[in-house]
Amino acid sequence: MTYGSWALIAGGSQGIGEAFALNLAKKGLNLVLIARRIEQLEKLAEVIKANYGVEVKCISLDLAREDIVPKIQEGIGDLKIGVLVYNAAIIPIGDYFKSDLEEQLKVLNINCRVPTYLIDYFGRKMKDNGKGAIVLISSMAGLQGTPINVHYTATKAYNIVLAEGLWYELKDYGVDVITSITGATATPNYVATDPDKPGLFVPKPLKPNGSQEYFEEIRKETICDSRIC
Ligand SMILES: NC(=O)c1ccc[n+]([C@@H]2O[C@H](COP(=O)([O-])OP(=O)(O)OC[C@H]3O[C@@H](n4cnc5c(N)ncnc54)[C@H](OP(=O)(O)O)[C@@H]3O)[C@@H](O)[C@H]2O)c1
Repeated sequence: MTYGSWALIAGGSQGIGEAFALNLAKKGLNLVLIARRIEQLEKLAEVIKANYGVEVKCISLDLAREDIVPKIQEGIGDLKIGVLVYNAAIIPIGDYFKSDLEEQLKVLNINCRVPTYLIDYFGRKMKDNGKGAIVLISSMAGLQGTPINVHYTATKAYNIVLAEGLWYELKDYGVDVITSITGATATPNYVATDPDKPGLFVPKPLKPNGSQEYFEEIRKETICDSRIC
């Protein structure tokens, strides 16, 4: 396989991370899935193993912890990770000054600092091995400053620029780097924000698997129904 046989998805239990997991498994990659809720991870792992026959390792871990790299090392042992997908994010909605500095720093940590740690750890190994792929999940919201999610949009801009620079630096070392400038997507997190309430511009979301069904039609679906794409 181009990048090796294992992919790691940080934030790989639902929504867009889940869609990545399903699609990478479909291509034959074994998976390491990280999220906090182990039941959600294990449910998805069962579906993936039954449908695609690949290995799936679940690691229940809060990425906000200081010791994530040793924790991940402990979880994966000597597996060689060929594909790193950084998908987890904190997406607060509300006026900047209605939240306190602690909350803003949490956003900065999960959306910027943690991917930097993981890129440092796995990216170096990929560069030494002469192959690998890094995928950062950004957002159309990262293309310009936006009220109500001021800090989130700024962190998503960071992801785009980080990936662009890394892409250039790593392209001659067999390591591909891309960022996904994702548009509105009907994930559990998106649906939980009740985005169809009146008063705001409401984009029409796609499903995490990319199909062009709109929110109105799909909001009634259970997460389970959308598992196999
Ligand atoms: N949905 C959209 O409309 C949209 C649009 C543009 C960009 N995006 C981007 O797409 C990505 C995924 O969004 P989504 O809507 O799919 O989100 P989601 O439904 O909330 O899924 C987030 C995933 O990350 C995990 N996660 C979150 N915080 C974590 C933490 N502290 N430690 C470990 N795992 C953590 C969650 O599992 P646990 O909760 O169990 O930890 C879950 O697996 C984000 O980077 C977001 O910025 C989304």
